[in-house]
Amino acid sequence: MFQLNALANAWPVEWYDEIDSTSALAGRRAADGVHAPVWFAAKAQTAGRGRLGRKWISETGNLYTTALIPIDGLSPAVAGVSLSIGLAVRDMVIELSQGRLIPGLKWPNDVRIDGAKLSGILLESGRSSQTKQFWLSIGIGINLAFAPDIPDYATVSLAKVLPDLSVPPETALVVLDGCLRGRLTQFSKFGMSSVIDDWMKATDQIGLICRSKLGDQTIQGEFHGLDEHGQMCLNTSTGEVVTITAGDVELVKER
Ligand code: BTN
Repeated sequence: MFQLNALANAWPVEWYDEIDSTSALAGRRAADGVHAPVWFAAKAQTAGRGRLGRKWISETGNLYTTALIPIDGLSPAVAGVSLSIGLAVRDMVIELSQGRLIPGLKWPNDVRIDGAKLSGILLESGRSSQTKQFWLSIGIGINLAFAPDIPDYATVSLAKVLPDLSVPPETALVVLDGCLRGRLTQFSKFGMSSVIDDWMKATDQIGLICRSKLGDQTIQGEFHGLDEHGQMCLNTSTGEVVTITAGDVELVKER
């Protein structure tokens, strides 16, 4: 999916004091064609976008960034990229906190501390009509300084759990760049099974009852792991194992 040599060196960063959304900017840039990976990052966003059409509160202090990457084509391998990004953000937190914080992962790629959401990840993709080049944009918001109120979710920030750790967004992005390129290299070289193995060691969903909502459809069951494509499997009350490919996952209660 990626050129391995594009993952070898740090990706350049375009920093903005304020922008509508780094992911919206990535989409605009992608229309002109993408030749090499680039980060867009902003101190604040005026129209931050979350998953499923939600707003992402984007005041100064946290990290708001989007990596725009040329890819070979749109493929189901995006599920592996999605898991790799969650692992990369978790790696970043472990590195920044020098091992004092070990976050858990919630499918597909929420990074959590004691069940509260520390970051959000928004994947978008497309193809430039001008250059015919396929692209992937990886939008990442990380609560460094403050935890915004999000309906239905507990949120947390690095500063709240480790008050002695003050991480400027620029520092966080340098570490994140290395962690993300590392995890995408792992995925490219060793494939989905290697990423799934690491993801399963890092998830905090084991033994939990999950509810997945997509549109009008709600499926509830005990977390049963991931299938070989990286999709989440739930063991429902009828004994049926159901595969969840998309949607919002809520952790209902401990078993
Ligand atoms: C989520 O809903 O969990 C995903 C949130 C993704 C937010 C990031 S912040 C940087 C990038 N720009 C955006 O407008 N959104 C993503």
